[in-house]
Amino acid sequence: MRLILLGPPGAGKGTQAKMLKDKFCIPQISTGDILRQAVKDNAELGIKAKLFMDVGQLVPDDVVIGLIKERIKQADCEAGFILDGFPRTIVQAEKLSETLDEMGSVIDTVVDLEVDADEVISRLAGRSTCQDCGGMFHEESCPPKAAGICDSCGGTLAQRQDDNTETILKRLDVYQESTAPLKQFYKKQGNLKTVTARGSVEEIFSRVLEMVK
Ligand code: AP5
Repeated sequence: MRLILLGPPGAGKGTQAKMLKDKFCIPQISTGDILRQAVKDNAELGIKAKLFMDVGQLVPDDVVIGLIKERIKQADCEAGFILDGFPRTIVQAEKLSETLDEMGSVIDTVVDLEVDADEVISRLAGRSTCQDCGGMFHEESCPPKAAGICDSCGGTLAQRQDDNTETILKRLDVYQESTAPLKQFYKKQGNLKTVTARGSVEEIFSRVLEMVK
């Protein structure tokens, strides 16, 4: 199963992708996570990407396309994968189609998680992430048992650098301008499924499963 999760920042792509990964035992490929790891490692990629990520801009297409091309050819992707945060532009979507075509493969389903801007802002402003294992929490919907400490590994929780109001608004603008047109792109290909991403995480997961089964 080859899936794409589309949706604005804070739509719940990462949350749902992790649940799909556990259910179907296929990798979750998050370009955001790959880039954040590169920033943490102070790798050349991370130093370049940070300049864009910190201000809510997209990292240049050639950088992320190269990453994904390499990743989806790895052995653990043979039975499928879940793309979370990629593609983000029409160019990225076209290059993905070309690469899959060369591999004799296609995207089966594109799930668009639809949610309004107010909900996005409240989700992102309340999010905290574990600095060690990447576990995700929310001050209201998914609070940690002890403030500032990850339930899973005991690591320190922190707010993401790009989860401040100014950068969230910028990310939403960038989404509307560059990523929302992908809905039309995949609609034309006949594999777009829209899911209302309001409600509990579990309710949304049931809706997503209906779309991918
Ligand atoms: P990325 O990491 O992909 O961030 P994003 O798309 O902005 O998405 P988020 O991770 O913020 O949100 P999400 O939809 O995954 O929601 P989540 O499940 O975390 O990208 C970051 C940056 O990297 C980009 O700005 C760009 O610079 C760069 N980048 C990445 N990919 C790129 C690409 N392809 N091309 C170019 N640049 C790229 O949930 C959010 C919060 O809500 C959490 O606290 C969660 O607990 C909570 N929550 C989830 N579901 C619910 C629910 N149902 N109810 C209540 N709370 C909920």
